[in-house]
Amino acid sequence: MDTLTFFNNVLSVTVIFAAFWYSCNDGDSLLLRERLQDVLQAMLEVEQQHSVGEVRIAVGYGACKDIFVQGSDLMGVMTPPQRTAHFNRIDSMKQLKEMYALFYTAGSAAERYVGNKTLFNEILAAAEAVPGSYSALGGNAPVMASRFALEGAKVLLAAKRSSYIMNKVHPSIIVRGDETESDEDIHLIIEYKAGESWGTYQAPRANRFIIHSDDNNPVLSTVEDFGGQLEAFKPNLFVVGGLQMMDNFPFPPGVQEERLQAVRDQMTSLSTSSRIHFEMASFTDTDLLTGLIQHVIPYADSLGMNEQELPNLYNMMKYGNVSLVSDFNPRVAVVLDQMREIFQQLRAAPEEGGRRRLTRLHLHTLAYQVIMVWKDSAWTNTLAAATKAALTANRHVCGKPEINLDNARMLMDEGFTLSKANGAGRVIFNTQQPVSCWIEDDGKVEVCIAPVLVCTSVRHTAGGGDNISAAGLVLQV
Ligand SMILES: *[C@@H]1O[C@H](CO)[C@@H](O)[C@H](O)[C@H]1NC(C)=O
Ligand SMILES: *[C@@H]1O[C@H](CO)[C@@H](O)[C@H](O)[C@H]1NC(C)=O
Ligand SMILES: *[C@@H]1O[C@H](CO)[C@@H](O)[C@H](O)[C@H]1NC(C)=O
Repeated sequence: MDTLTFFNNVLSVTVIFAAFWYSCNDGDSLLLRERLQDVLQAMLEVEQQHSVGEVRIAVGYGACKDIFVQGSDLMGVMTPPQRTAHFNRIDSMKQLKEMYALFYTAGSAAERYVGNKTLFNEILAAAEAVPGSYSALGGNAPVMASRFALEGAKVLLAAKRSSYIMNKVHPSIIVRGDETESDEDIHLIIEYKAGESWGTYQAPRANRFIIHSDDNNPVLSTVEDFGGQLEAFKPNLFVVGGLQMMDNFPFPPGVQEERLQAVRDQMTSLSTSSRIHFEMASFTDTDLLTGLIQHVIPYADSLGMNEQELPNLYNMMKYGNVSLVSDFNPRVAVVLDQMREIFQQLRAAPEEGGRRRLTRLHLHTLAYQVIMVWKDSAWTNTLAAATKAALTANRHVCGKPEINLDNARMLMDEGFTLSKANGAGRVIFNTQQPVSCWIEDDGKVEVCIAPVLVCTSVRHTAGGGDNISAAGLVLQV
């Protein structure tokens, strides 16, 4: 989009401004509390007005056992490394420490394959010995599937059937995949808190570093088996996720691309009456990201991603390079511009060979949720979806269904500019109507932004994006 069209688009944005400016005295916690209370109340009302209809959702791919441990209890008790460094896979303790320190100081999520099984088993044993460590069903697909099932959808999941998985998955979910008793599919989630330090290293925000030595999920071993089931299930929505398990996996030559093509073939096997969502994740392997842009993304109607994944995809589509570490609290204007550009680019390609034009883009960040939809498409309830996604963000991170305002704060509470372009409009935050929606691009695109009541008593960060994305999707199918 050239600057002029862009400028015009921004000018043509119609924003319903509230003629209401709540001037807030930061020192006055009572006022602050009232503000939060108003915001929460308004959002809960929206959520209560929308229920989930009769929807059929298929979700791929994979499942694993996640072991959660506090980084301060596992890494924190070891000597910190002399330097930080980046590796594509981990083969020694030294590499693990250096890479952990790198992402820890950036507050960025990352996931890496450990090639050295002895090392992985040693770390795993140490993690399991930490009091307070626990396990949960993991992988993007089962987390999203469980969220859909909890919301009342009928769900088909592509995953191997191990007793661990079958015991943990929501009982209404139909799991389609081989039986297995393999103990390999274990992922270790090392979580850390904002402000925590390790020697001279300090974490600016809560996040997690994930390691695994899983040779099963990265090759998407369930794709082929799932084919017949998927078509017979006739889903309203097919969600493709779990592909970041492929990130930095040591594939034999050509196999990574071949697996992505298998996913593409699965996506194109569905009729257009089944909408397709692709959930991004932290991809740092340039070849994989290139493969996704070529073989997967153009075949999806909808994309979901977080504040790291957006600039990653944006840079890759625009410049062909990936940003490893990015701003964890980006300005709304910046992300809106990036979203517009991705949206336009993915709508520009012809719908040939099963390609679909993007009609929905959901960005989940720490501070807010943005959902951009093509007006003339089947997606409904954008405001409610953004609201539900924002509420789910707090619930997931705090680990409680009730939102406690003692453990919540808003990072986006004054308003935001609609674009970095000169003269762009500004939306003033309104506590009575905290979720703002507007129409842009000559009435063709709708955008809604919901503030997150950021949880300050962090229970977990892993799986957040999946829960949040699923919560948004389920109201829009
Ligand atoms: C693998 O890890 C073990 C245990 O930490 C270590 O003793 C061994 O040297 C490592 N192997 C390689 C090739 O780095
Ligand atoms: C990617 O390339 C662009 C254009 O060459 C450059 O401006 C940007 O800084 C690069 N980003 C990274 C992360 O290397
Ligand atoms: C997130 O998803 C997991 C798996 O479905 C579930 O156990 C957890 O309760 C969810 N969290 C929230 C807040 O929905």
